[in-house]
Amino acid sequence: MTGVIRSVIAGCGSYLPERVLTNQELAARVDTSDEWIVARSGIRERRIAAEGETTSQLAIRAAERALKAAGLTADAVDLIVLATATPDLTFPATATRVQAELGIRKGFAFDLQAVCSGFVYALATADNFIRLGQASCALVIGAETFSRILDWTDRTTCVLFGDGAGALVLKAAPGRGDNSDRGILATKLHADGRQHDLLYVDGGPSATQTTGHLRMSGREVFRHAVGNLAGAIGEVLAVTGIAAADIDWLVPHQANLRILEATAKRVDIAREKVVVTIERHGNTSAASVPLALAEAVGDGRIRPGHLVLMEAMGGGFTWGACLARW
Ligand code: ACO
Repeated sequence: MTGVIRSVIAGCGSYLPERVLTNQELAARVDTSDEWIVARSGIRERRIAAEGETTSQLAIRAAERALKAAGLTADAVDLIVLATATPDLTFPATATRVQAELGIRKGFAFDLQAVCSGFVYALATADNFIRLGQASCALVIGAETFSRILDWTDRTTCVLFGDGAGALVLKAAPGRGDNSDRGILATKLHADGRQHDLLYVDGGPSATQTTGHLRMSGREVFRHAVGNLAGAIGEVLAVTGIAAADIDWLVPHQANLRILEATAKRVDIAREKVVVTIERHGNTSAASVPLALAEAVGDGRIRPGHLVLMEAMGGGFTWGACLARW
């Protein structure tokens, strides 16, 4: 057989902190309203990590659920890629904490920093290690505690974000090399560092020796988002020759309801095929795509054989898309 190695999605899991923070509660803290937040973003509530609850703890719970869904034990894992912009500590990588807590003693583990695009970047990275034969079973995790880097007095940002984690297990499996294969079929990543200052955190170990707070020019981010996302989707469709009409599910980064609906429209994917969780999760950065995947797999929407298109855009700017057959 002339086949190829594919990264097949073996399982999916997620975890949300218990505490729900509603728009009404936020309206009591800053000059905003439930109506404004829903109309501009689609968000009604978000989850907030408990005091002392860390990104690694959210990640470990999501990873355990993904492994269980895959019917695997942690000792199968030889790669962990953890996408986060809110690590437990500046170093070592939060992924190494996850590795230790899961009892994994082999392979390698690292964090990946592409903010809200982190999960799509992590999927592409793990897929490349697997297809090169350098890993056989990867945990790809998106986990964030954005509540820790928000300026809770800034109404233009604090209403938009939430905490959570999601994980996928990718396993190496032989494929035919065509679109009938299960697993990741195509990924496309982009960055444009000229937009660095439109979405950033104003602190860090080297520049300020502080953690800093998220700063965003929301209107400017919005202006770039739909074009960038639609472009990356177009590229993964073109490289595979798959038509938009054949996509079963679009699982977008949940930044803003208006952005994700406009993107689906631009690429001609029907609204009923778009997985939307933003009203209950807010923007959980790198966690948003795997959280949405876990929900749609859990309720039976995404099924084996389906074509699933993922996309995200975040600080940098960074953006990308990934097409997989479940
Ligand atoms: N409550 C009430 N009023 C507010 C609030 C608030 N929470 N925040 C801002 N306003 C006011 C503004 O001050 C402004 O008032 P003005 O007209 O008197 O100046 C008015 O509302 C309109 O503000 P805009 O910023 O123009 O509102 P817009 O329709 O652009 O919506 C939003 C703002 C939701 C941030 C939108 O621009 C957006 O979603 N941008 C993209 C953000 C994004 O996707 N970020 C994430 C991508 S990357 C990542 O995920 C990290």
